[in-house]
Amino acid sequence: MIEVRNLYKSFGDKEVLHDINTKFEDGKTNLIIGQSGAGKTVLVQCLVGLLEPTRGEVLYDDRNFVMMSKKEKIAMRREMGMIFQGSALFDSLTVLENVRFPLDMFSDMTSKERDRQAQKCIDRVNLTGAENKYPGEISGGMQKRVAIARAVVMNPKYLFCDEPNSGLDPKTSLVIDELLSDITKEYNITTIINTHDMNSVMGIGENIVFIADGKAEWQGNKDLVMSANNKKLNDLVFASDLFKKVKEVENEEAK
Ligand SMILES: Nc1ncnc2c1ncn2[C@@H]1O[C@H](COP(=O)(O)OP(=O)(O)OP(=O)(O)O)[C@@H](O)[C@H]1O
Ligand SMILES: [Mg+2]
Repeated sequence: MIEVRNLYKSFGDKEVLHDINTKFEDGKTNLIIGQSGAGKTVLVQCLVGLLEPTRGEVLYDDRNFVMMSKKEKIAMRREMGMIFQGSALFDSLTVLENVRFPLDMFSDMTSKERDRQAQKCIDRVNLTGAENKYPGEISGGMQKRVAIARAVVMNPKYLFCDEPNSGLDPKTSLVIDELLSDITKEYNITTIINTHDMNSVMGIGENIVFIADGKAEWQGNKDLVMSANNKKLNDLVFASDLFKKVKEVENEEAK
């Protein structure tokens, strides 16, 4: 479990995160939702140590990440898998080399073991046969799956995904959401996904934190999100394409 306590982040005199308190649970897809500019990416970057919080605590299974030494933080990062906006693959490496990369860097496995582990993850994301292709030769959805395989190749306890569906069509987004959700369950990972995709919210939102203007305004699951008693969240939900479609269908049926 990851627990965030009284987390603040400012850039100069601009406060971007204000007193965030929340918990992200093991074996669950935890979603951070909110409008563009709400502070989702900054929050995740504070969680993984790419940004230093102005104050507050981030506890990884009771270990306070913020207070750790540089060495301890590097060790903690080995327990984290990350998928950032865009897939950030190495263009000059093949699919297999991309997925094997973290093992080449950080594991003491033999070359054969690294290949085997990378292949296992490639198979898991249904990319068997694409091992020797380069990122430029495969679709955006396939690139995302390579990024997922690379993020889980070290068996992380925590998985961070910033807008994993950006740039993907709705059908491919669904495949990626299901894959992330299945992998989370299979390996009992604490997964945190930033999204403003309402389809994802309704599909895999087991624990949802809603952020507006840097404040955690609401927390709940997908069954509660539609009826939440929070005006800003209602506005976000009702403005979504998904909600408009639901309304259209209801209106059609009422005729
Ligand atoms: N390095 C930085 N320096 C100054 N301000 C920043 C920095 N990074 C982010 N911000 C500001 O913090 C606020 C939150 O940005 P953030 O990227 O976290 O939003 P977001 O919720 O991820 O939005 P989106 O959905 O568009 O990705 C924005 O106002 C942004 O301009
Ligand atoms: Mg963002």
